[in-house]
Amino acid sequence: MTIFYFTATGNSLYAAKTLGGKLYSIPQLLKEGQFEFADDSIGFVFPVYGFGLPKIVKRFLKAVRYTSQYTFAIGTYGNMAGSCMNNLAKDFHAAGRELNYADSILMVDNYLPFFEIESQLKKVKEKRIDEHLQIIVNNVKSKKNSIPRAWVMSRMFTACVSWAVSRMINGKSAQKYTVNEKCTACGTCVKACPTGNIEIQDKVVFASSCELCYACVHICPHTAIHLKNERSGARFRNENISVEEILRANNQK
Ligand SMILES: Cc1cc2nc3c(=O)[nH]c(=O)nc-3n(C[C@H](O)[C@H](O)[C@H](O)COP(=O)(O)O)c2cc1C
Repeated sequence: MTIFYFTATGNSLYAAKTLGGKLYSIPQLLKEGQFEFADDSIGFVFPVYGFGLPKIVKRFLKAVRYTSQYTFAIGTYGNMAGSCMNNLAKDFHAAGRELNYADSILMVDNYLPFFEIESQLKKVKEKRIDEHLQIIVNNVKSKKNSIPRAWVMSRMFTACVSWAVSRMINGKSAQKYTVNEKCTACGTCVKACPTGNIEIQDKVVFASSCELCYACVHICPHTAIHLKNERSGARFRNENISVEEILRANNQK
C-alpha cells in the first residue's frame, strides 16, 4: 500500500501512519517532481479545509499518475466536513479515475480563528479518534467500496463555504501574522512551511504563497507567531507526531 499525505499539525500524518504502508509527503513529492507510482492500493490522507481539499493536495492530484487496483481517500477534520469526500469522489470520476473508498475522521480542529485549542483538547476523548481510525483501517484492509452520500442542503452549504475559503486563501494571509519578541529566528517556521513561503532575514519574512495551513503558527517552539483573529494563544500538535516528522514532511528549503 502507498499513501500520499499532507499534514500541518500531525493529525493526517497520524491517520496515515495508522493505516500503514509506504508513506510519501505530498509537499516533498511536489518539490522533487516525483509523480509516477504503482501499487495494489493507493491512498490520499489530508486535512479538510473549508469543506474541501488544501490547495497543495489539489495540485498534487492534478500532477500524480498512478496505477492501482484499489484507491481510497481519507480527510481528517475537526468539526464538520460538509460534502468534501463525496465531491472528491466526483472529481476523481470526472478526471477518469475511480475512488473506491472515501471517508473522513473527526480529530482536533486546528483552525485558530474559530476554535480555542484548550477547549478542542477537552473534546478529544468524546471524539473516540482511535476507535474510528480502527474502523477506517479495517475498511481499507478489507478493500471496502463506499463513498459517503451528500444531501442537497449539504452540497449547497459546501459550495458556499468552499467558495468563501478559496477566496480567503489568496497567498497573502501570512503577511498579516505578527511575530513577537519571543522569536529567536530559530528557523523552525521556515522548515514547517509546505510552500517554502518563509525566510529569516533580520526577522521572519512571509512571502505570498501562504495556503493557510498554520503549520508555522502551531509548530513555532516559542509561540511567537500570532494571527490577529486567533481565539487563544494555545497551539496544537498531534501528540503522536513529533515536530521533526512535520518538518521532514514539509520543509522546502
Ligand atoms: C484553513 C483551514 C480550514 C479548515 N477547514 C475545516 C473545515 O472546513 N471543517 C473542519 O471540520 N475542519 C477544518 N479545519 C481543521 C482541520 O481540518 C483539522 O484540524 C485537521 O485534522 C488538521 O489536520 P493536520 O493536523 O494533519 O494538519 C480547517 C483547518 C484549517 C487550517
